Amino acid sequence: MKINLSKKSYVISAGADGLGFAIANKIISSGGKVYLSDINKSKIDKINSNKKYHNKIFAKHLDCTNPKDIKEYFKSLSNLKKIDGLINNIGIAGPTKYLQNISIDEWDQTIKTNLSSHFYFAKFAIPFLKKAKKGSIINLSSTAGLYGFAQRSPYASSKWAVIGLTKTLAVELGKFKIRVNAICPGSVNGDRMDRVINAKAKLINSSNKKVRKELESMVSLNTFVEKEDIASMALFLLSDASENVSGQIMTVDGNTERMN
Ligand SMILES: NC(=O)c1ccc[n+]([C@@H]2O[C@H](COP(=O)([O-])OP(=O)(O)OC[C@H]3O[C@@H](n4cnc5c(N)ncnc54)[C@H](O)[C@@H]3O)[C@@H](O)[C@H]2O)c1
Repeated sequence: MKINLSKKSYVISAGADGLGFAIANKIISSGGKVYLSDINKSKIDKINSNKKYHNKIFAKHLDCTNPKDIKEYFKSLSNLKKIDGLINNIGIAGPTKYLQNISIDEWDQTIKTNLSSHFYFAKFAIPFLKKAKKGSIINLSSTAGLYGFAQRSPYASSKWAVIGLTKTLAVELGKFKIRVNAICPGSVNGDRMDRVINAKAKLINSSNKKVRKELESMVSLNTFVEKEDIASMALFLLSDASENVSGQIMTVDGNTERMN
């Protein structure tokens, strides 16, 4: 399927690495432009100084949990006139602990980052999306948004909430031809899952190898997925190939059968 996103602009929160950056690369390889922001300044500087991304990816140093700064960021995009898509990608893993051991700060930070930030970006992006006359919002949830997930209560709660946000926003924005869908990645190969596995192994006194094997055994295809798999789903949801797809929860996870 050949997808052409030329003359189209997309905003990605927390997009300088991981899934957001994989999605950014997918968009530019289909001719679109990407406006990404991230709290990691050195990654932002690296993107902006790389000729490969010149005039394709516009990277901004930003704390994507700060509503005041997000509002200013969208003001700075006003020369764009319209935005064709928003990828609400920001999301932290949060603590790996039993609930009674989670601090109030850990809880609040996970919920704010994983849920409130999606609200802030959507709030300020919607006027731009309406100007495009049609558009696509993708919210990054997780398979943790579909199951109970022991030792990860703030993360799982935030990811369930992202699904509620997706379903609700799809209803509100349908009349403007703005589609809203969620992607639920399973365990994605990369640094973040390595850190999650390490934290779990420490908590339950196990080895990283055993924890990984256990996670794989919960999936029908017996595998972790790749960033590229998520980026391909995002490209589909941004493109006209999915123009009648809205309010959907797309899992890209090899079919999770259980989480515990
Ligand atoms: N990686 C996985 O296995 C996995 C699985 C399911 C769901 N997800 C979800 O997918 C999304 C992307 O995950 P990822 O693995 O690419 O993330 P990641 O941990 O690799 O982080 C991506 C980027 O987020 C940035 N970031 C963190 N806090 C920020 C802040 N306050 N403001 C701005 N930028 C900030 C980091 O600097 C980094 O560049 C998240 O919502 C995550 O919950 C990931």
